[in-house]
Amino acid sequence: MYHVLSAHQFDRQQLDELFKTAEIMEFNARKGGLNLLGGKIMAALFFEPSTRTRFSFESAMMRLGGTVISTENAAQFSSAIKGETLEDSIRVISSYADVIVMRHNEVGAAMRAAKVATVPVINAGDGAGEHPTQSLLDLYTIQKELGRVDGLKVAMVGDLTYGRTVHSLAYLLAKYQGVKLYFVAPESCPIPEKVKAFLDEKGVEYFEETDLEKVAEIVDVLYMTRIQKERFPTQSDYERAAGVYKIDPPLLDRMKSNSIILHPLPRAGEIAPEVDDDPRAAYFRQAKNGVYIRMALLAYCLEEGMVSRDTTALE
Ligand code: CP
Repeated sequence: MYHVLSAHQFDRQQLDELFKTAEIMEFNARKGGLNLLGGKIMAALFFEPSTRTRFSFESAMMRLGGTVISTENAAQFSSAIKGETLEDSIRVISSYADVIVMRHNEVGAAMRAAKVATVPVINAGDGAGEHPTQSLLDLYTIQKELGRVDGLKVAMVGDLTYGRTVHSLAYLLAKYQGVKLYFVAPESCPIPEKVKAFLDEKGVEYFEETDLEKVAEIVDVLYMTRIQKERFPTQSDYERAAGVYKIDPPLLDRMKSNSIILHPLPRAGEIAPEVDDDPRAAYFRQAKNGVYIRMALLAYCLEEGMVSRDTTALE
């Protein structure tokens, strides 16, 4: 069974194949979609709020001819509120759907689900852990916008402790040659030691910086993230981190003309709206790419594709 649980499970060849498939999906989506998954059902089980991930997965499934059963706020509106364990819910939903896309507040929840599921599980974000499908669409966007990933300088800015998208993206970028990473975070939310240890092991060059203006002048990709109020231990911890870094027109002026700005969204003030019309602002194109990457992933999960069957290495 093909689960999508972590960025770690993909190698370069699989990424190249996935991106080619996403391009084909985009072509087909523009022509009205495909009937590849007719008769299949996707369950979207979201214990945390979402706009992009849930809707783009649902859109992807429908564009492939499949159907969707869905719950948002599953902690309140599913039998979790009656005390049902995640494992029991997953066992039952496995008999109602052909694939389960799950977002949960706990790190490792997707792995727990995959252990008992009898259908593929896709991790749509597990607490402050990982968000592999987001990082795949981030990487796809970089490749599409800049024509390559090897040799790029990529800055990740904002909430790097709790920001699961940066963890997954750092793991994926480590698979490319000559990539340099610049981590720019408020003092209270630095990039985790676990991520740095992985980059050290893979020989990836990275820098922890505090001066965003200096970094913005040299990077090819500026990946901005929201300070996630909901994950900070206290309001005062959050307030110390919020508003420290912002992309605004003066910062834009310092950036290279051929660089791009990405953000997984939603934003909460860290990118000024005046930046949106600049051609380097690629974050809405990035969100749109989510549909094509997720079409490709659903096809792989349901059509015995290339996504790794072996998840034991991730445990
Ligand atoms: N990027 C992302 O995960 O957005 P949502 O929380 O809206 O799904």
